[in-house]
Amino acid sequence: MTQTLTLRRPDDWHLHLRDGDMLRAVLPHSAAHFARAIIMPNLVPPVVTGAQAAAYRDRILAALPIGADFTPLMTLYLTEDTDPDDVAAAHASGLIRAVKLYPAGATTNSASGVSDFSRVAPMLERMADIGLPLCTHGEVTDPAVDIFDREAVFIDRVLDPIRRDYPGLRVILEHITTEDAADYVRSAPENLAATITTHHLVINRNHILAGGIRPHYYCLPVAKRETHRLALRRAATSGDPRFFLGTDSAPHTDANKLLPCGCAGCFTAPNTLSILAEVFEQDAALDRLEAFTSLNGPAFYGLPPNDTTITLVRTPPSYPMHIPTPDGPVTVFDPDMALNWSVS
Ligand code: DOR
Ligand code: ZN
Repeated sequence: MTQTLTLRRPDDWHLHLRDGDMLRAVLPHSAAHFARAIIMPNLVPPVVTGAQAAAYRDRILAALPIGADFTPLMTLYLTEDTDPDDVAAAHASGLIRAVKLYPAGATTNSASGVSDFSRVAPMLERMADIGLPLCTHGEVTDPAVDIFDREAVFIDRVLDPIRRDYPGLRVILEHITTEDAADYVRSAPENLAATITTHHLVINRNHILAGGIRPHYYCLPVAKRETHRLALRRAATSGDPRFFLGTDSAPHTDANKLLPCGCAGCFTAPNTLSILAEVFEQDAALDRLEAFTSLNGPAFYGLPPNDTTITLVRTPPSYPMHIPTPDGPVTVFDPDMALNWSVS
């Protein structure tokens, strides 16, 4: 039985680091394991200009533990007023690696997102021209659409039309939760990819709702039925270069998770790699873990894989169940299964 596993150092292609005290509390957990991460721009207020992205990057770098080797890959939050020249300049300087599309109202801090897609047409055209990828939160917000169908309807109503209108645009359908999304990505040309979170490989909607409501499993897109979870496992463990890790690790204090209307997000940064090793081993795919965590993402983003490595050993991991912040604890995602691999 394999006892150690050495991988090129992983990257996280979808991460929420927040700001201020929360940033200082959560960043060490990502920087300990990941070399780079695509940093989500849904702060309050959102990161919409190149100047704001540069200032946010500097705050992240200032919050890094001494000696940490971690590069934040910045993104801009797409609004109907985003200035294509500002975005193109931020891309040309190497500051930003992607632009993030939130349909207005889809999730945490998405109020400044897009409602009228005609207003972002010049931006999308420019991004296709300059090769700047679009990260998408793939859910429609139409209240008439059932929350469990919002991703599949987004593909039909929003994503497919965008891809037809801008065939050269590189698009990442983020945190996919359905078999429909996995099939759609597989059937598309190579300029479409998908990220998959750790938690969506582990939980289905029963974990959230059966036998009592478990707010710490509530995230968006919400976990779907078991057939979809199994489809995500097949996609992630397949080695197909279009699927790669984006944890969507999204910290909220317990106080904010446990409200009558609690926040969406699972905080997986501390135990993601232990959980993934378990998942890939269960599916007899440990030899394809590195593709998912460390190779497919950089290839899609046109970056070299990391030349350093990380080693996992067959020992149950130890990590805190909660991490402290000045505003109260943040609960670490509970995978509800025994874990046998730790990062050494
Ligand atoms: O569960 C989620 N939490 N999904 C998102 O899309 C946003 C994120 C957050 O920022 O908390
Ligand atoms: Zn997210």
